[in-house]
Amino acid sequence: MTTNIKYMSGVKSLKDIDVYGKRVLIRVDFNVPLDSHGNISDDRRIKAALPTINYCIDHNACSITLVSHLGRPKGEYEEKYSLKHIQKRLERLLDKRVEFIDDFESAKGEIATCSKERVFLLENIRFHEGEKKNDKEFSKKLASICDVYVNDAFGTSHREDSSTFGITEFVDTKVAGFLMMKEIEAFSKALEEPVRPIALVVGGAKISSKITLLESVLQKVDKLIIGGAMSNTFLKALGYDMKDSLYEEDYVATALHVMTGAREMGVKIYLPVDLVVTDSVETPVDVKVVPAQDVLDGFKAVDIGPATVKLFSEAVEMSNTIIWNGPMGIYEQDKFSKGTFKLATAIADCYAYTIVGGGDTADAVERCGEASNFSFISTGGGASLELLEGKILPGFKNLDRREESI
Ligand code: 3PG
Repeated sequence: MTTNIKYMSGVKSLKDIDVYGKRVLIRVDFNVPLDSHGNISDDRRIKAALPTINYCIDHNACSITLVSHLGRPKGEYEEKYSLKHIQKRLERLLDKRVEFIDDFESAKGEIATCSKERVFLLENIRFHEGEKKNDKEFSKKLASICDVYVNDAFGTSHREDSSTFGITEFVDTKVAGFLMMKEIEAFSKALEEPVRPIALVVGGAKISSKITLLESVLQKVDKLIIGGAMSNTFLKALGYDMKDSLYEEDYVATALHVMTGAREMGVKIYLPVDLVVTDSVETPVDVKVVPAQDVLDGFKAVDIGPATVKLFSEAVEMSNTIIWNGPMGIYEQDKFSKGTFKLATAIADCYAYTIVGGGDTADAVERCGEASNFSFISTGGGASLELLEGKILPGFKNLDRREESI
């Protein structure tokens, strides 16, 4: 049986084609976190794209045009989402001049000038309405500035946008970059021939976009460990009063479905038994540890408590493959970071194949000094969960295929 991962592994990569003298467009994922001053607080995704960009420079592509989104602008210019914030860092990392392009259509002539392997960075592609709509005309326009399309945006490969999907209809040569191939290889190890038990640890605040995936993920895992804001919705579904904690009322029924499904399929679910709660996230005066069913009036859950850390640590210790997606609390603040950091150490200490997915989780393991103790740090959060669901990600779907895989 061809699984989604096997199918995706069969795409051609940059190594299978010749880029000499070609106008290469690379879809990268430079959607990196910026602080309130516009500084890049984690440049892992930019660094992860360098092998693909450097390969095109070294193999004398005529021009290399980098296309990315940043944040979620709604089809129009917003300064805080400008890719100008990325240009300098990219130049420093590549040790090469990067030319910024506001309007790619009027820069078409420039991009075709083949004098010295020029690197261009387009302004945020989501400033164009057509991008998120996967608009045909927009995809065609984008395709017209290249001879070769390379998708290396693993973190965005679950999106059916113009620059990740629609463009492939209008370019003859379309392949995956090195990051895409590396990610698929790492997940193949975890999902194709996994050493069981497999534990999926989920957390984070993006509840609605992740919770619906959990039902289909149940077929793949033996244990589901849920913490962070995600677990508040599950605790609510158990009938606990979560007071001011972040949870999604609209998804309480989904949480119940997931728990029922897990019971039927013999998947063990682990939820917090105690929580760190506070009266205020911004200016916390009162911070307490309480049983999960006893959140106080006017308080909100911001981290898992010590008993939960112990419970989750024991659950992962008995696993041979662990995939972690989403922090256990507001780890960016010292007071609320203990649960996430302690769990990071517990997972890193396991004799297991360990994958971290998603920007926040990757940032958290970096901050607590455990990044190098994980088997693989993925640049994809949502994308890796959709892989786990068994989907063929749109970013891989229409790429050229190696002959033996056709
Ligand atoms: C991410 O950070 O998950 C990717 O860059 C995709 O971003 P999106 O969820 O806004 O499509």
